[in-house]
Amino acid sequence: MNDDPKTLYYAHSLAVPETPMPGHPPKPWGKTTVVGSVKPRVDAYERVSGTAVYPTDLVLPNMLYGAVLRCPYPSAEVEKLDTSRAEKMDGVRAVVSGAALGRDLKWTYSQWSPPKEMETDLFDPICRFEGEAVAAVAADTPYQAWDAIRAMDVTFAVTDFVVDETQALQSHSPLVHSERNVVQTQTYERGDVTRGLKEADVVLEETYATACEIHTPMELHGCVASWEGDRLTIWESTQGVYAVQEDIAKVLGLPLSKIRVVGHYMGGGFGSKLQAGKYTIIAALLAKKAGRPVKLALTREETFLTTGNRPPAHMTLKAGVKKDGTLSALDFTCTGTGGAYPAAGTTLVDWLIRDLYTCKNVRCTTTDVYTHTGPARPFRAPGHPQGSWALEQMMDSLAESIDLDPVDFRLRNVPTFSQARDGNPPYTTTGLKACLEQGAKAFEWRKRRDEAAQNQKNLVRRGVGMAGCLWFAGGGGPPSTVIVKLFSDGSVNLNMGASDIGTGTKTIMAMVLAEELGVRPEVIQIEHADTATTQYATPSGGSKTVPTEAPAVRAAAVDVKQKLLDMAAKDLNVNSNQLTFQGEEIVHKSDPAQRIAVLEISGLKKRGQVVGVGYRGPNPEGMVVNPFAAQFCEVEVNLKTGEVEILDFLGAHDSGRVMNRLTYDNQVFGGITMGIGFAMTEERILDKNGTGKMLNRNWHDYKLPTALDVPAHMTSLPIERPDDEANTTGAKGLGEPVTIPTAAAIANAIFHATGVRVTKTPMSPVQLVALFNASEKEE
Ligand code: MOS
Repeated sequence: MNDDPKTLYYAHSLAVPETPMPGHPPKPWGKTTVVGSVKPRVDAYERVSGTAVYPTDLVLPNMLYGAVLRCPYPSAEVEKLDTSRAEKMDGVRAVVSGAALGRDLKWTYSQWSPPKEMETDLFDPICRFEGEAVAAVAADTPYQAWDAIRAMDVTFAVTDFVVDETQALQSHSPLVHSERNVVQTQTYERGDVTRGLKEADVVLEETYATACEIHTPMELHGCVASWEGDRLTIWESTQGVYAVQEDIAKVLGLPLSKIRVVGHYMGGGFGSKLQAGKYTIIAALLAKKAGRPVKLALTREETFLTTGNRPPAHMTLKAGVKKDGTLSALDFTCTGTGGAYPAAGTTLVDWLIRDLYTCKNVRCTTTDVYTHTGPARPFRAPGHPQGSWALEQMMDSLAESIDLDPVDFRLRNVPTFSQARDGNPPYTTTGLKACLEQGAKAFEWRKRRDEAAQNQKNLVRRGVGMAGCLWFAGGGGPPSTVIVKLFSDGSVNLNMGASDIGTGTKTIMAMVLAEELGVRPEVIQIEHADTATTQYATPSGGSKTVPTEAPAVRAAAVDVKQKLLDMAAKDLNVNSNQLTFQGEEIVHKSDPAQRIAVLEISGLKKRGQVVGVGYRGPNPEGMVVNPFAAQFCEVEVNLKTGEVEILDFLGAHDSGRVMNRLTYDNQVFGGITMGIGFAMTEERILDKNGTGKMLNRNWHDYKLPTALDVPAHMTSLPIERPDDEANTTGAKGLGEPVTIPTAAAIANAIFHATGVRVTKTPMSPVQLVALFNASEKEE
């Protein structure tokens, strides 16, 4: 690349190996110039300097501030609501409630095939979790809004609650909805588990549990709503502007064209911002009623209660293994709760048991239970970290029982096809073996394992552990439409609907475009995440954003190039398939004297710009695109205090092509950090048998990992295999896979250090000290 900032255009040759043919997807890239390099984010300055305007930063002229009256009980009915005092207060411009407005609007917490009972009135008098919305107000200042909320005269009839999933299954339990507390029981079976267990040389059984993890993205959930006539504009902190647009249209009965959703920046979502919030609808109603824009940003306490969580899981895994390392049976049961209005999570807990390691006989039963708790949401690799917690600890126990090294044992059971999907489709690429082998080598697994094991007499002990994983999604796919405009001066506009949820999407797409068009990434201006001005995209989630959008960006760039060739052919009076790109020019292949500079093409000059459209093509049929990984860590455990220091982590990830080495490594370090929180500290604490309320609804009492909890030494080791079958850019998706194996790897390291199996998250000092004391007594 030419790094002279004055050389803006065509800094390296247009990288077309041959003239693209209309309608044909471009061939996979071989070696790349810009893609794969280390590139700081295109919006780094805006993000770091604070000049980036996030939706909750936005201030519009005449804007009001909203606040929501919420039910303080886990289960209650609104008996009486009188808002008249609030309405008369200074600065109050609008009040909405079930009595006035919103009673007749229907709301569904989950967009993922919800059971019928999930549809309620927007302001339903029956409140099924602490924090359910009852009424809302918009006022000149946030303080006036909250004063008005406090002035509302509300009486609740408190009803019996159940916030514990085990209690919810008991026959005398209060019902969350009308019939029974079981949402659904999902079963899966292949082979003959009974026979598989009989054939095993060793059978082990263990129960595992993971705590409920709360969504707490840095930017609070919230939006600004504004009407111009019958057109509604929403600035939303979201992972997908089009998803929010669809949700609003459904609830308010508006045409999609009348709803504009903008989300240029957003401060984290992790699955909790894949859809509109109830607060989004409330903000729109308040703005309509007041005739002024309304900002409704939730407080941190409100987000803890209402915006989602990773459901808790209680799991039992019985497993059989033969002496040669063959897994002969896996028998898994799981009970979890997605709260009163579940969405994703518990149903995916069994996926790794079904599909990660070769096993002929597998049975999984997963039960999701209603409780009077806040709705679960997709949460970074829904279900997978929970299942990994059970499976990857069991894999270590099995390895020990047959005297095999944990890495070797896993290597004997690496599949090349998806066992759990119908027809056993092959994976496009499967780097699990390479992740295990190369990760172990880079980490010096055997040497460090042995060294740690030699020092087990001290109070502070060292242990080395690992875990493998796959992520059942990734890969991406249609639909996605991207538009690329080449201006007459050679600068470029990239137009895409996808959100950049902090992962560097904009930067990577600029790199893809730079690669294909031969322009410097710096001259690319990106328009994104705005339903009025950019093209349709699915929400950024599922670690599918890069493999979904990048091929569409590439296709749009190829379309621009084809159009340039067609225009140049007219100028040169030749056939366009005789032309090719050479640096900043278009040249005749067999008569190089015939050439024209791209910026001299008369069609480009006349039109002022060339517009290319790219669509995301289909995925390969009969194949599965999944990312794989293995993680390795070393810990130090204090047997007296229960403190665990995580010294070192290595993530070996097969996510296909590395698009930007910088943001790639960021994803690995960030995902491991999130996994550390899940493993060590994060837990929703409910007053289960008292009030049913959440006791740690803030960042003081709910412990997220901070810089001090992150290992000083972390290594990102890309196992790079451009996946040419998956799509035209070879990327499979990174992000969620990173969070999956982290907790189990730490637990395995703690076992290695202490000989104590920790089967419950979080692995707090309190829990560990009790376990260490109990194991000492046993000895
Ligand atoms: Mo993710 S849980 O698909 O944002």
